[in-house]
Amino acid sequence: MTKPKRTIQKHPQSDLLEHTPDDLRWATPDIVALYRAKRLQCKVIADLGCGIGFQAFAFAKHCQKVYAIEINKEKIARAEKNAALLNIKNIEFIHGDILDPNIIQKLKKVDIIFCDPERLPEEEQRSLATIKPNIQELLNAYQSITNKIAIEFPPQIQTIPFECEREYLSLNGKLNRLTLYFNGLRQCDRSVVTMPGGERLQNSTTKTVLPLAAEPEPYLYEIDPAVVKANLLPELLSTTKTGLLEKGKITLATSGKKVSSPFFCHSYRVLANCSDDETELLNALKQHHAKKVTLRKSIDPRDYWNYRTKLETNLNGTKTISLFQYKEKLLLAENLDL
Ligand SMILES: C[S@@+](CC[C@H](N)C(=O)[O-])C[C@H]1O[C@@H](n2cnc3c(N)ncnc32)[C@H](O)[C@@H]1O
Repeated sequence: MTKPKRTIQKHPQSDLLEHTPDDLRWATPDIVALYRAKRLQCKVIADLGCGIGFQAFAFAKHCQKVYAIEINKEKIARAEKNAALLNIKNIEFIHGDILDPNIIQKLKKVDIIFCDPERLPEEEQRSLATIKPNIQELLNAYQSITNKIAIEFPPQIQTIPFECEREYLSLNGKLNRLTLYFNGLRQCDRSVVTMPGGERLQNSTTKTVLPLAAEPEPYLYEIDPAVVKANLLPELLSTTKTGLLEKGKITLATSGKKVSSPFFCHSYRVLANCSDDETELLNALKQHHAKKVTLRKSIDPRDYWNYRTKLETNLNGTKTISLFQYKEKLLLAENLDL
């Protein structure tokens, strides 16, 4: 049986530190910051736009020296205070604009540059033009210092006009971060890392065909959305010997045998299938001792609870059954992670 994934707390130490709600909204979750700090381990690193310091504190654990630069005076004051609260001594905080030539001059000897830039808080569609500092200007300014540059990037932006590795990171089964790794840090074109385990999947250098399933087999797997976003379905499905059943809000693979992968958010065993006729569905649910029904089929969120309650008031079994739709059929399945 697949072990249920633990839900990871984003900032376990936040109660000890100075922050505003807005600081926390933009702060990197600790587990992500630590993962990145391990990948970017080096002697001297610069964190451009450090905010209140969450990523910089993780760098301080893995690098000898960290430069943390921040344009906002209040934020950098909180970052310095937080470093003192955590007894971190190897960060040099610099207040200023990372594009200021005096600051660039101070960072002449760093091994790696990292930047988690600012996005506009309320923006219908993320856009490259509104990211601060401007990424192209940052690259122009720092490429002569080091070719090892990593930049966090909004995963919602479809077109990424840079030559780099795109690493999609998922946390608790949800797409959490996209980091771009340039030149000396680039290991491949596209990768996925899943937290809390830290398992990694990357694009194959040879062309991999996407295995398709003709129909549902006894096991169903919900694929981590980061894998879909990174366009790594062919790599995942061919290594797990599963076939793609459906790609959409939920992406489902299927196979005749039970397989496990850290890139499956949930695994299910199919119990039955039936038409979407309500009487037939209720009979099938009763036959499988259902008490609760989780809807994994597409449904208008406003109708979710009405539909679910209508079914559940007629059930008196003991089990939770998940309901999927495949073409005109409903699939009743048992979640193997529970
Ligand atoms: C997303 S936040 C960083 C959060 C941080 N990584 C953390 O884990 O707490 C981006 C920060 O970049 C800063 N910033 C934006 N433009 C800047 C610039 N030109 N120079 C320095 N800092 C800048 C913003 O003030 C903001 O605090």
